[in-house]
Parts: sequence; C-alpha cells; structure tokens
Amino acid sequence: MRIAVYSTHQFDKPYLTTAAVKHELIFIDQELTESNVHLAESCDAVALFTSDHALAEVLEKLSKLNIKYIVLRSAGFDHVDLQKAKELGLKVANVPAYSPYAVAEHAVALLMALNRKLRSAHDLMKKQDFRLDGLTGFDVHGKTVGIIGLGKIGEAFARIMNGFGCKLLCFDPHPNYALEKELNIKFVLLSELCVEADIISIHCPLNKETKHLFNRNLFDQMKKGVYLINTARGPIINTTDLIIALNNGIVGAAGLDVYEFEKGLFFKDHRHDQIKDTIFNELMTLPNVLITGHQAFLTTTALQNIADTTINNLNCFEEGVECPNQLYVTDH
Ligand code: NAI
Repeated sequence: MRIAVYSTHQFDKPYLTTAAVKHELIFIDQELTESNVHLAESCDAVALFTSDHALAEVLEKLSKLNIKYIVLRSAGFDHVDLQKAKELGLKVANVPAYSPYAVAEHAVALLMALNRKLRSAHDLMKKQDFRLDGLTGFDVHGKTVGIIGLGKIGEAFARIMNGFGCKLLCFDPHPNYALEKELNIKFVLLSELCVEADIISIHCPLNKETKHLFNRNLFDQMKKGVYLINTARGPIINTTDLIIALNNGIVGAAGLDVYEFEKGLFFKDHRHDQIKDTIFNELMTLPNVLITGHQAFLTTTALQNIADTTINNLNCFEEGVECPNQLYVTDH
C-alpha cells in the first residue's frame, strides 16, 4: 500500500520506516487540513497524528481521492469525525494501548517537578545560588489522589501512586471494581473527589461529556491548593477558569501536557513567531504552572509500539481480516 503519513516528525520517522516493510510511506511534515488533502493523491491510506484535523470536509475530500483507510498513530480519536467516516465507508483504526506507562509516568513527572520546585531549583543552581528558600514541597505519601478515568493510563497512574502510599479516589462512569481491592481505590462521585483530593490527575477521553468538565463550578468545589495534572486532552479543562482558580489559590499548581488550544501551536517551532494566544501566554507567566507540549507519550517503547500497531492495522485492512483496533461510532 501507499500511505500518506501526515504530521511526521524526526522522532517517529525511523520507527515507522522500519515497521512498514511492505508498504510505501509518503512522509508529509504538515498537519492534515482541507488545503493539503491533495498530497494524499494516489495513496490507499492516510496515517494521522493527534495534530491532524480529520473533520467531515477533510474526510469527504480524502474519500474522493479513493483513500480507503485511516490509521491513527494515537490512542485518542477525538480529532476524527467517526460518523462521517462511517457514512463514507472509510475504515478507521487507532493504537489503543502503546504504553499507558509512558503517559502515567509523565503525569507523575509533572506532579513531582511542580511539588519539589525542580524548575526553580535548577534555575537557582545555574545562578550559583544554593539557598533553599522557596523550594519547600510536600510529602506525596499519605496524600489523597483523585483520578479522573480509571482506564489503561489511569490504572498505570493509580499503581504508581499506590506505591507512593497515597489514598486513591476515582471517578469513572464505568468503574472497574476488580481494581478496587487490589489498589485500595474508592470509586466516588466527582463532587466528593473534588472535596477530598490534594492531587487530581485527569485520564479520561475528550468527548461531549468531558469537554470543560473542569470549569469554574468544579474548581469552586475543590480543596484549596489542589495540584491538578492533565495529560489527557486540553479541552477537558476550561483554561480561562483554570487561570482564575490558579490566581485565587484554589488550584495550587497545574501540570499540563495538553492545552485547550494546542492545535496549530504544539509540535512546531515557533521560536521566531510572536504567539498571539493570550491565554497560553498568561499560563506561561504563572510560576506554579508547568507545561509540556503533548509529549507524555514520547518514549522509545511507545514509539515502537505505535509504529508496529499502525502498520499492523493497515495489514489487517489490506488482507481483509478483522482489525482488533478498528473504531466504530459507538466507541464514543
Ligand atoms: P481508556 O479508554 O483505557 O480509559 C479511559 C477511561 O476514562 C475509561 O475507564 C472510561 O470509562 C473513563 N471515562 C469515560 N468518560 C469519563 C468521564 N466522563 N469521567 C471520568 N472518566 C471517564 O483510555 P486511556 O488509554 O487510559 O487514555 C485516556 C486518554 O489519555 C485518551 O483518551 C487520550 O485522550 C489521552 N492520551 C494522552 C496522551 C498524551 O501524550 N498526552 C497519550 C495517550 C492518551
């Protein structure tokens, strides 16, 4: 097959090239939009990343080019209009579990870097200022951690925090009760979790129910000084409301690997641009905010698994055998 691989980066090309033994890959650095669909001409499939925009109009154009398959190099699939894909007869598959540990471990890294003030500590070291004032953290041991979504990543995160000796609360509309005893987790209502938790980490998908789930109303229910970590999807948090909560001390610190308006911003070199996103610029000025550019997935293990599963999904489609990772509209 000939596959147009949109949003390719230096970090994933070698893994995809090695995995795609019998396919021809056309690497396209640009993100997929309506205006560059034509680059997939004479291809059978497109391979997309989270930064690509597979909206209805884009899918229609891809279908007109006789594209048959869309393979996502991601677990999340909120950037694809699955209903439209179904109508057009386009088959879509994702990589549901390339490494839940990669993302969970990054969430812990954000938490610990904020808590132990690692950024300030390093800045002071560089200035040869070895005083410790302003670097006080807290013991994570014994703290109450609220987990939003106990799926693959949420579970991996829960296991780590269990190792830290935390009390775990979880909100998930589809509770996996088998984990309750093993990890000493208590499933609770979201309101109860917000009242109790010292640390909240978000691991649910972005969908109609979770968009702006974290808004002013929810922040107002939280324990003062709560640490909030989001490695799931940016729009789950209303960022304007988060800034208010950070400024009034309800949220003590925020570790964000994803950002509400990251599309068009993340994954690119903007060193010579003036970023006009005032919300992002304001977040960057806050000392208790740590932002990474959607890199939680970025480990060698994850990249290997993403490449292997993406190519395997294509092989299944090509050979007409059932693809275990095919996405259907009901998956939402
Ligand atoms: P998963 O499907 O295994 O688990 C998601 C869990 O969230 C399920 O248990 C589900 O019942 C629960 N859930 C659904 N709606 C909910 C709601 N309204 N409130 C609370 N929980 C809810 O998914 P997985 O693999 O754990 O990934 C979670 C999310 O992490 C993905 O949807 C994706 O958006 C994000 N992600 C981010 C990455 C990054 O690099 N920052 C990389 C990979 C995934």
